[in-house]
Amino acid sequence: MIHVHTYEKWWIVLSVIMLVALTAAVGISAFVVGIQVPSPEARVDPKTVAQTPPFDNPGLRELAPGKYDAYVLAQASPWKYYPSEIRVPLGATVTFYVTSVDVQHGFKVDGTNINMQILPGQVSKLTTTFNQAGEFPYVCHEYCGVGHQNMFGKIIVEP
Ligand code: CUA
Repeated sequence: MIHVHTYEKWWIVLSVIMLVALTAAVGISAFVVGIQVPSPEARVDPKTVAQTPPFDNPGLRELAPGKYDAYVLAQASPWKYYPSEIRVPLGATVTFYVTSVDVQHGFKVDGTNINMQILPGQVSKLTTTFNQAGEFPYVCHEYCGVGHQNMFGKIIVEP
């Protein structure tokens, strides 16, 4: 039998506890709380994406009652989102597909889990459900040039 020092034994136990706790935290976040990690959904050409479906007609698509896709374009010079306003009914589940036509932007929707980095050439995707009526502003939270502070819009959840 190898002799393990008492303190070393405690460090091993502590390490195992931390591993188990972290694994549990990741599992609970993903499967119970429903936190999603934004991942690159698709690749696009930032030079032509604004002329190519579906981003040539940005905005909301109803897939089924209460289920929507929202296509959003982020742009610098002039700094804005297309569209700058999205209206959905209460209880709507919306999957956002967001991309940039030029530089790196951000897309954060207040009061939701939507918080993404928007890179030219990639489509970022996240889904959320609006269970509260009201206005949910979205903002660019990655510095993208002198008009960065003008990049905002809002989601209006109608009761
Ligand atoms: Cu777009 Cu900051």
